[in-house]
Amino acid sequence: MIKKTILAVFGGLIIAVIGLGVYVASLDKTAQARLLLSLTMREGEALFQTVDIDYDAPPAVLGWLDSRNTRSLNGQWSIIVDPMGVGNPGSPFGGYPLNRQNTSGMTLVEYDFDRAQKINVPGDINTQDPKLFFYRDGFWMFRRFEAQVPESGQRSLLHFGAANFTATIFLNGQAVGQHVGGYVPFHFDVTDFLVDGDNVLLVHIDNRLDDSTIPTGRTDWWPYGGLTRDVHLVNVPRAHIVNAKLALAKGADNLIDLSLTSTGFDADTPVRLRIDGLNVDAEVALKRDGTANLQVSAQPILWHPDNPKLYEVVIEAGESRLRDTIGFRHIATQGRQILLNGEAIKLRGIATHEEPIGQAGVAHSAAHMRRLLAEARDLGANFVRAAHYPYNRHLAKIADEMGLMLWEEIPVYWQIDWENDETRAIARDQMARLVQRDWNRASVIIWSVANETPNTSPRLKFLRCLIKDTRAMDDSRLVSAALLGGSRPDFALIAARLAARGIASPDVPEEAKQVFRGILDEAGYFAPEASDGYTLTIDDPLGAHTDIIAYNQYFGWYYSVFFSRTLGIDEAVLRPLMLDFMSDLKITSQQEKPIQISEFGAGAKYGLRSDDNHIWSEDYQLAVYRAQLDMLGKNPDIQGISPWVLKDFRAMLRPLVGVQDYYNRKGLISPTGERKAAFGLMQDFYRNRW
Ligand code: GCU
Repeated sequence: MIKKTILAVFGGLIIAVIGLGVYVASLDKTAQARLLLSLTMREGEALFQTVDIDYDAPPAVLGWLDSRNTRSLNGQWSIIVDPMGVGNPGSPFGGYPLNRQNTSGMTLVEYDFDRAQKINVPGDINTQDPKLFFYRDGFWMFRRFEAQVPESGQRSLLHFGAANFTATIFLNGQAVGQHVGGYVPFHFDVTDFLVDGDNVLLVHIDNRLDDSTIPTGRTDWWPYGGLTRDVHLVNVPRAHIVNAKLALAKGADNLIDLSLTSTGFDADTPVRLRIDGLNVDAEVALKRDGTANLQVSAQPILWHPDNPKLYEVVIEAGESRLRDTIGFRHIATQGRQILLNGEAIKLRGIATHEEPIGQAGVAHSAAHMRRLLAEARDLGANFVRAAHYPYNRHLAKIADEMGLMLWEEIPVYWQIDWENDETRAIARDQMARLVQRDWNRASVIIWSVANETPNTSPRLKFLRCLIKDTRAMDDSRLVSAALLGGSRPDFALIAARLAARGIASPDVPEEAKQVFRGILDEAGYFAPEASDGYTLTIDDPLGAHTDIIAYNQYFGWYYSVFFSRTLGIDEAVLRPLMLDFMSDLKITSQQEKPIQISEFGAGAKYGLRSDDNHIWSEDYQLAVYRAQLDMLGKNPDIQGISPWVLKDFRAMLRPLVGVQDYYNRKGLISPTGERKAAFGLMQDFYRNRW
């Protein structure tokens, strides 16, 4: 009997497979792919092996988002945490994308998204539930939404401002696609996945990072996971403008260049460009590939921090009509100078992280960014280094309005897997998406490809590839990277100068002086005098490929630790000598280019004071800033400064209980916005001294 049953089942299966094959063959290509993908998805783990990103060309970023026919999908989403991958497709009950329901009361379903815990989107998951503070693994985000299948001639795009860090999208039980890499926008055409009425959107997110990702798993900022930016359903005409870039023509103040990409139009479809404030109303015909280039005459008032002039720009083609407010300006370098509209300008900056003031987690709203930038402006800054990854799109829009120049960056941070093709593809994808999202923002003057990466040939090759990509997409802005400070030879020579100062100092104990004498004896003829300064020359080969030589240096904070360990002298002796030495330090670079001190700083717990300048006190942070600014004020080659950092920020590397408590405390303001003593010093320096 059993044998007959098995045969019957087996035979049935064979007939079913043949039937399915016949059915699939009868479908059109898209439906076929869809069905097979969904079957594959149901059967296998296909969409859960991170897709191989073959970066054969920059992705097409949907630009001009705020002027499109968008519907927000922000709000309360359900979350199910799933570190064991219980819900993955292919698991015994088919996985969460099927969103099975126990309507009968007899169906075994071990999950229920409708009743699951709720999390606000946009927002990170780590600070909305204390249980998830350190969470770094897989989880599911779910929401229902009412929609109508768009009429023919229209398409529906599902657009994410970002998802940290690998997102796999399912709509109504079917796999839509996957994006690898956080912080940047991506979208999928979901027209064929939508149903009339109730739609079920499910996003699997994995916020794990490792040695092969960008960033890696080791970052001095919190790897906030989740749908950290706005989510939109965007309805577009089948034929629509995808993106467009406007900029002053190279070397001209009276010519504006438009380059545009589109899809679905016939060749020769007219594209109209209007800038009413400039009496521009011009047309150009689309080429067969959907692109168009146009140069128009115009006399814009050039955007400048002192007068951040923006113009209303409208672009139309067919039913596609986009608008944005855009500023026009030039940014260039000449020798050691940075030229904004042909005039030398100093970057009076501050570095930031994307965290709101007075609120936990990731900053994602226009209000969050306005508050952060207002604080930077109150500091006297005209420039913000938005470290270390792309921020939400509101940053640059608001910086345009406020007249703050920006450095935007991708998280190629510290040691990266330089020879891994997928790692490079993720970095290139992130740079391409950042550039194509913000290339109309006058405030953005610098694209940064890295931060503090070790000087090796695989790293140089990797970063030169990113620089080449960036310049190919946008040659109207500067390119840089924050370089690691100090080399071994430098430090050996600086140690001798500290020794000379130590011997001359009445405050240095005799045993330390013994060590210092030994150092000077070794230096012999080259032994420096106590008053000798030092000229440090930045010689990182990457400097030959960037426009600005950006340099992170921590003489006042970290280097005393290094010297203490190598010299066997207590930091209590070295730190005062270092602060004294700093005012006689010169910094220059091999390349005749502008130098920006892209980081310097010291940690301080707000409210902690010390008559003895003890570390972690506001007084010691103040002393470091005094020495640092004294040095910078005497360094004519330095044209930009962005102290580290505006606000204390979350960091897993910083556990010191009672002082850090998982905050990096180098902020000039506390997490809730209280200004430390060094804020006033920096403010005075920018307003009156530099
Ligand atoms: C480095 C790094 C920052 C880090 C800072 C610090 O320079 O670029 O990301 O937070 O130093 O140690 O505080």
